[in-house]
Amino acid sequence: MEKRGENSRATTPNYRHIELDEIDSTNAECLRLAKNGDEGNLWVTSKVQNSGRGRRGREWMSESGNLFASLLLINVADLRNQATLPLAVAVAVHRAIEAEIQADVRGLQIKWPNDLLLNGKKLCGILIEVEKLANGTNALAIGVGVNVSTAPNIALYPTTSLVVEGYLLNAENLFARLYKTMSEELEIWDGGRGLHKTLAAWRLRACGIGQPIKVNLPNETVKGVFFDIDDTGQLILKDSMGKFSYIAAGDVFFEN
Ligand code: BTN
Repeated sequence: MEKRGENSRATTPNYRHIELDEIDSTNAECLRLAKNGDEGNLWVTSKVQNSGRGRRGREWMSESGNLFASLLLINVADLRNQATLPLAVAVAVHRAIEAEIQADVRGLQIKWPNDLLLNGKKLCGILIEVEKLANGTNALAIGVGVNVSTAPNIALYPTTSLVVEGYLLNAENLFARLYKTMSEELEIWDGGRGLHKTLAAWRLRACGIGQPIKVNLPNETVKGVFFDIDDTGQLILKDSMGKFSYIAAGDVFFEN
């Protein structure tokens, strides 16, 4: 059954929430709603997605039991500041999972820019899609997929789920946590004005800083040491000659 309506939550009353049983993609639904005039600050969740979207045009396998949630925001920040939003989102998801597990889980880490790994395997993916609307406003769908029950088989990287790792959580409770932590982290990030706090929270939870990595870019693979991230959210790579390069998007692999 599809429930469309407002869910009232005492702590953070500023987001509405639509809960669906099945949809193509919660991100796609957010952007459709925006085109039809929705004013944003709206969460869309679905039990199943039949056309879940991943980064770089990949499919996101979306079986029942996992969490599929998207937050629609309108005109959240100017373009430059928007680039650092993924960092705030990753911190929010990390905090939500940690709160639901009720422990400081050392193996739960953010992989640049905004994947979450549990014990070195992918647990969560985040996809932020932006669309300029006819009226000139910017609609942004922040999509979060967490493997709660099952870990889809993906050739590119190892995957896991919370249940597989021994954490018997469910998607609904995790979403309730995310609802709160996302609101808090977006408030801290504050359209980019609170970036220094977001960066500090991100670095605390990140893996691989200071380690040798390989980054797959659209047309090449580059290697070096993961030096840090800059204040636009780019990865700073230091190669064997000591030269720094700045990477805005790519798939990171750790070199053992
Ligand atoms: C990735 O490739 O790592 C990003 C995956 C993002 C998946 C989520 S699930 C909810 C939202 N709806 C989608 O179609 N994709 C995102």
